[in-house]
Amino acid sequence: MEIIIVHDADEVGRVAALKIASVVSRKPAAVLGLATGSSPTGIYASLAARVAAGELDFSQASGFALDEYVGIPLEHPESYASVIDRDVVRPLGMDPARVRVPDGRATDIEAAAVDYDQAIAAAGGIDIQILGIGSNGHIGFNEPTSSFASRTRIKTLAPKTREDNARFFDDPSQVPTHCLTQGLGTILDAHEVVLVAQGASKAHAVAGMVEGPLSSMVPGSALQLHQHATVVVDEAAAAELTLADYYRYTYANKPVWQRFE
Ligand code: GLP
Repeated sequence: MEIIIVHDADEVGRVAALKIASVVSRKPAAVLGLATGSSPTGIYASLAARVAAGELDFSQASGFALDEYVGIPLEHPESYASVIDRDVVRPLGMDPARVRVPDGRATDIEAAAVDYDQAIAAAGGIDIQILGIGSNGHIGFNEPTSSFASRTRIKTLAPKTREDNARFFDDPSQVPTHCLTQGLGTILDAHEVVLVAQGASKAHAVAGMVEGPLSSMVPGSALQLHQHATVVVDEAAAAELTLADYYRYTYANKPVWQRFE
């Protein structure tokens, strides 16, 4: 796992965006794994600025969202289908026909989950998966005790996650109780992952993910099993990392040929 500690939230978005840009520049038809939530918004803004400047082109890229709520209408502004369309597809100029979000409205939710994993495999797998982390250590919506082998499936949102996401809804009771999420096993199949975290509220989860034992109690710790995982955090989110100086030293001395910026 590569840990990159940068000064602030803006720099987190800029540095992580460079990683994604390098993948898409190398492979214009790349398959992107798309996260929602506040964490990746700086990535999308940074990439959108480069698209607007004519430096990057996502028109041939495809995308698979990480997760979706179960039980809210497609057109709801906080359905992840709406968020992905508004925050990612349009600003990056992606082809909407090449972007999928798990179908949280399917009558057969189990079949929809199996179908989603099959679609990812049929696309050749995800080249780079963008991730945030929940304050309880979840990635996607894989709440604590999720199996490291899990595939896309229905999950019940932890009360803490519903509380954290209440800010997106008019009333906390409107936060759905269930979701469809890529599993930890699905996420681990991505060729590369880049996880971003900002702010003190993520410091404990980040430390557990990077330095804690492998544990389903901290689902993000599954990334310790990934060959190409990059974690980009600001100083506040890095506050509980015991080896922070080592990560800074490693990044400062990274061989030129390994740099993506
Ligand atoms: C959300 C999403 C995750 C996200 C995490 C953190 O509910 N399902 O994909 O990474 O929880 O959210 P945020 O980035 O808003 O802090």
